[in-house]
Amino acid sequence: MSTLLERVKAAGLPQHVAVIMDGNGRWARARRLPRTVGHEAGARAAERLVRFVGERLGIQYITLFAFSAENWARPKAEVDFLLTLLDRFIAEHLQEFVDSGVRLRVVGDPAALPKSMQKTIARAIDTTRRGEKLDLTIALSYGGRQDIVRACRRILADVAEGRMTLQDVDEDAMARRLDTVGTPDPDLVIRTSGERRVSNFLLWQSAYSELYFTDTLWPDFSPADLVLAIDDFQKRERRFGAVREEAG
Ligand code: FPP
Repeated sequence: MSTLLERVKAAGLPQHVAVIMDGNGRWARARRLPRTVGHEAGARAAERLVRFVGERLGIQYITLFAFSAENWARPKAEVDFLLTLLDRFIAEHLQEFVDSGVRLRVVGDPAALPKSMQKTIARAIDTTRRGEKLDLTIALSYGGRQDIVRACRRILADVAEGRMTLQDVDEDAMARRLDTVGTPDPDLVIRTSGERRVSNFLLWQSAYSELYFTDTLWPDFSPADLVLAIDDFQKRERRFGAVREEAG
């Protein structure tokens, strides 16, 4: 992998990679194990990837879709397990994040999360706020449509209270009111496990993102797989709706 790693690093890395981590349940089922074991293996894959991105790759922003607004519909025991796992993941890595320059952000609806988890998140965001090496965003109780609705409400409140006028409402005004404010739009969105959908992830923000789908189940997704995804991304031509200038 090291030659390909050097090559992708030299070819211009994406600034922001966002990942829909899918397939924990199928990974566990294939091994006749409970789904919870798949989620634990998924957490280890996330840990491995974050370390690799911060220490060896050098991408500035990574976003992980850890718990969707729709995931609340899963059986309560699984929801509780997932939230506890994610809470522990944040708490247990806090010192490592600080030491390695990771700044944590969370997008989603924090009010929906257990109070103790809200505290873990608030503490982690505050403790890591000076991290400059890697911006790690974890999407928790997140939905792209809900994010857009929240931004619309913030705009309406600003208009109603006289802080802005109708003429000020433009794409930039929306972007500044989304949960992701301060983070550039993802250049590359990866989804694992063979599903080819965006599933209400970063809908506004991924308008021009390159999409990369792999059959690999999330717990098996390795740093080498990320490098392959970036290599594929680098071979694409991004035109943002424009026409490429012909030479001559
Ligand atoms: C998809 O598997 C994964 C999730 C529901 C999200 C949870 C992700 C993790 C626990 C990974 C760890 C992430 C962090 C940030 C620690 P699935 O249950 O939908 O799998 P299936 O589609 O095969 O059933």
